[in-house]
Amino acid sequence: MEAMRTQSLSLRPVQLSDAALLQELFLKSPGYFALIGMEPPGLEDVIRDLHTLEKDPRRRAFLLFLEREAVGYLDYKLHYPEAEEATLSLLLIREDRQGQGLGQRALRHLMENLVGVKRLYAVVYGQNPRAKDFFLKEGFRHVKDGGPAVSWYVRTLRAGPDEGLL
Ligand code: ACO
Repeated sequence: MEAMRTQSLSLRPVQLSDAALLQELFLKSPGYFALIGMEPPGLEDVIRDLHTLEKDPRRRAFLLFLEREAVGYLDYKLHYPEAEEATLSLLLIREDRQGQGLGQRALRHLMENLVGVKRLYAVVYGQNPRAKDFFLKEGFRHVKDGGPAVSWYVRTLRAGPDEGLL
């Protein structure tokens, strides 16, 4: 039945030429920026951030597509804080697409594809109970609060084929 078909979700590395697309995604997700006490970034800010991102080989940023539609963004840093660890700084699903299982699918997809990464951290900014619930539900545990507005979560990832299951 066509209505039951699972639409395909894919991740594509963000390029400088995606700045306008990315900014539109942010503009369509005002709730998140209100939550962290910021205005959604302007185009200039997005372009600057993409330049900064390009300079750090450990940073990885992806646009998330549902079929051909950009519905999310994901940004993490490899080999951080330690060599075999990675830190997710933002998973954002476009506001009108939240609560439909896309965040969960995107995070699971990422975790399955982070080859060689033993632990994944998630840094949650601001008062964001929804994000905290989301990460707890996905098997993360709370590690520490780094000041009033930042909370760290972590989970172990499945080990690589040579290492067996931890
Ligand atoms: N209220 C509380 N919990 C919710 C809600 C809600 N409205 N919607 C979803 N969840 C929880 C549920 O527990 C759900 O599990 P279920 O299967 O029992 O319903 C689980 O999250 C997964 O739901 P998804 O539909 O996959 O969540 P979604 O696609 O909305 O993605 C996310 C979650 C990423 C937090 C999304 O809502 C979002 O982009 N929010 C704004 C940006 C943000 O805060 N991102 C996280 C920042 S911190 C970081 O990225 C490290």
